[in-house]
Amino acid sequence: MKRIINTGSIRFRFFVFIALLLLVLLLLLNLYPYISARDAVYQEKQSSMSSRGAALASALAVLDRPDEERVAEVLRLLDIQDYDRVIFVDGEGRVIYDSRGGGDDGHVQEDLRTALSSKTVFRSSLKGESFSSGYAVPVSAQGVITGAVYLHESDGERGRILHAMQIQIRTVSVIIAAAAFAMATVYSAGTLRRVQELSASMRIVAGGDYSYRMPTSGTDELAELGNEFNELTERLEDTERQRRRFVSDASHELKTPLASIRLLSDSIVQNEDMDVGTVREFVTDIGNEAERLQRTTEKLLALSRLDDDIQIVPEPVDVRQVTLDALAVLRPLAEERSVTIRTALDDGCVVLATVDDMFHIVFNLMENAIKYNVPNGSVGVFLHIGGESVLFTVEDTGIGIPESETYNIFSRFYRIDKARSREAGGSGLGLSIVHDAVKAHGGSIAVGQNKPQGSRFIVSFPLYSIERT
Ligand SMILES: Nc1ncnc2c1ncn2[C@@H]1O[C@H](COP(=O)(O)OP(=O)(O)O)[C@@H](O)[C@H]1O
Ligand SMILES: [Mg+2]
Repeated sequence: MKRIINTGSIRFRFFVFIALLLLVLLLLLNLYPYISARDAVYQEKQSSMSSRGAALASALAVLDRPDEERVAEVLRLLDIQDYDRVIFVDGEGRVIYDSRGGGDDGHVQEDLRTALSSKTVFRSSLKGESFSSGYAVPVSAQGVITGAVYLHESDGERGRILHAMQIQIRTVSVIIAAAAFAMATVYSAGTLRRVQELSASMRIVAGGDYSYRMPTSGTDELAELGNEFNELTERLEDTERQRRRFVSDASHELKTPLASIRLLSDSIVQNEDMDVGTVREFVTDIGNEAERLQRTTEKLLALSRLDDDIQIVPEPVDVRQVTLDALAVLRPLAEERSVTIRTALDDGCVVLATVDDMFHIVFNLMENAIKYNVPNGSVGVFLHIGGESVLFTVEDTGIGIPESETYNIFSRFYRIDKARSREAGGSGLGLSIVHDAVKAHGGSIAVGQNKPQGSRFIVSFPLYSIERT
């Protein structure tokens, strides 16, 4: 069952974060101004009540026998009208004057008793929309407490202002919260849509459509991710294209000799009175085609082994010895083509590789130099140490390689002159094996023209020396 709210989703976490942040901010916004305004009012009340209270207390202190009327007289003189209640008690706590004529609001008695013990008391609180403030002060003459005065005030106006302010802040808070949530929703919906686009694109490509490119815009992280994804897809597409081409080239390469074999064997079978000489000739041809198939499959195997990332353990290889071995195999071919081979092979040319790969390299280069040569042409094979490198050079006086083809010849199944290569038994795989083998062992290969004609291949490997390892 699909949950409606996925609590693990980025979106959910984003909203929880926004909500908490807003809650804290709005709480501060609602409480801080209100509390500080209220405290300012308390302070103002306290200072005004204490100065009025002190004035009243000293005026009452000089009355020698205070009674209700005299107290009222003093109050009139001092013009104390802001207070909704004024109480005067004598030293024993008897009420001499009470502007409201009795009754107790909360702490009056208690505060008067405290005042009689020579302490002033101030209380203020916000009840509903009104500030209720009480102040009690002792009345003393020559150090003797002769009574106490209590003042009370209700201030509705300040309370209402404070209340209105709070309502306004609350309204603003609701608007801010709504706006923030709306913005967060819009933003997260936009971001989420782009993330979903990305995962939809991934599914498309995973489904096999490597030509798909995700539309991207902008420069933010998601756009960057999209671009990276497109680049990855492009590489995938490229690899896939190469793979397909390789398979189709390889099957084509195997198809041709197989078709010849079929044709030859069919004619032998169908032609009942074929003479023995012709049969022998046909069977020899079949053998040749089979040999060609064998060579091609061996080369394919060599290539796929080089493609595999199986870690081959390289060993010190004496390139001179490998070259001599390959030359021994190639001499008959050279004689057949009337091609002479000159060699100058130095000792001590040791590189870190495998004998098999090294053999592939020197054999294929020398074979090509003989095959793509002219009658009575020559091949030069040189091996020497140059600085920290071993340089292996093969040059010929053959047909040469046009400048424009020097890049292509290392591609699989690539042949400049297909007819000539086929006739010479080539499959177009030799140089790609050379290329991959050179790369596998940290070497490099360059191809150029030989003067006055022909071509020159130079392979360079790091020289192996014991100190170096
Ligand atoms: N020494 C050379 N002189 C002229 N052309 C060459 C030489 N070596 C290679 N080539 C060209 O490069 C192509 C690729 O070489 P290679 O991969 O060895 O395949 P092939 O099986 O045809 O020899 C050859 O078909 C040929 O056209
Ligand atoms: Mg070749």
